[in-house]
Amino acid sequence: MSVISEYDSFADIYEVWTDTAASTGANLAFYVDAYVNAAGPVVELGVGDGRIAVAAAARGRSVIGVDLSTAMLERCRRRAESAGVGGRLTLLHADFRHFELAAPAGLIALPYHSLGHLTSVDDKRHALAHVFSQLRPGGRFVFDDFLMTPALIDHMRRVQLRAEYRSTAGVDTLLWVTSLVDPASQSIKVVTWEDQLDTEGTLCQRRYRRLSLSWLEPSQARTLLTDAGFVVEACFGDFAGTPFSDATAHEQVWIARRPL
Ligand SMILES: C[S@@+](CC[C@H](N)C(=O)[O-])C[C@H]1O[C@@H](n2cnc3c(N)ncnc32)[C@H](O)[C@@H]1O
Repeated sequence: MSVISEYDSFADIYEVWTDTAASTGANLAFYVDAYVNAAGPVVELGVGDGRIAVAAAARGRSVIGVDLSTAMLERCRRRAESAGVGGRLTLLHADFRHFELAAPAGLIALPYHSLGHLTSVDDKRHALAHVFSQLRPGGRFVFDDFLMTPALIDHMRRVQLRAEYRSTAGVDTLLWVTSLVDPASQSIKVVTWEDQLDTEGTLCQRRYRRLSLSWLEPSQARTLLTDAGFVVEACFGDFAGTPFSDATAHEQVWIARRPL
């Protein structure tokens, strides 16, 4: 497949990106528990560098990881091998909307706001219908989405220093981020740039990377799930399993089931 993914250029900063993100600790624990406790096969869509899948594999769970980015899949493969669990991961280079499983899944997960990488509602609808088709009756689909609020929009629009580190070549590096957020189209363009500094602190190189994202309002997510044939078992407002409420939620975490 010759599709170029935005993540092919994002892959080399993905680990620092997730290490410095607000929700990755909580979403990691939530999804690893879900994978370990599910009846298999377990599939992670948008497996990325295996941050979640490899942790689940280290607890004995076999995971099928699907991703469109060859660079992310390569990182995932290396992470699994260095953790000694390469044999528990099956990696598929495919789109959320087209992956084909050898056997129907017991759990399909789409963590870390990744449905938002499909930026049109139609694409999301196709993805949910496809996920439904790849689950066995009684199988579950679990995903999370941004809960977009005015405060989160303000936060995303700010220029933030995300991290300070030495690059693999030993160069002093600053990672910055801001986002263009368009509430009318529910779309987000994340813009990051890495500044590499010489020993005097002078900027010698700047590299930009961009990610296209989007979000669903909770009512849209519920409608898309039920239109695809799912029964919604739960919607949480965080990764601790707190029932969703407008007053307290800061994520949307959906648990849906293909009926028997
Ligand atoms: C935010 S990362 C999540 C990675 C991992 N699940 C985690 O939680 O760290 C999103 C991943 O989805 C993949 N992705 C984006 N759009 C995709 C698509 N249409 N089909 C398959 N994978 C896709 C990207 O390549 C990337 O690895």
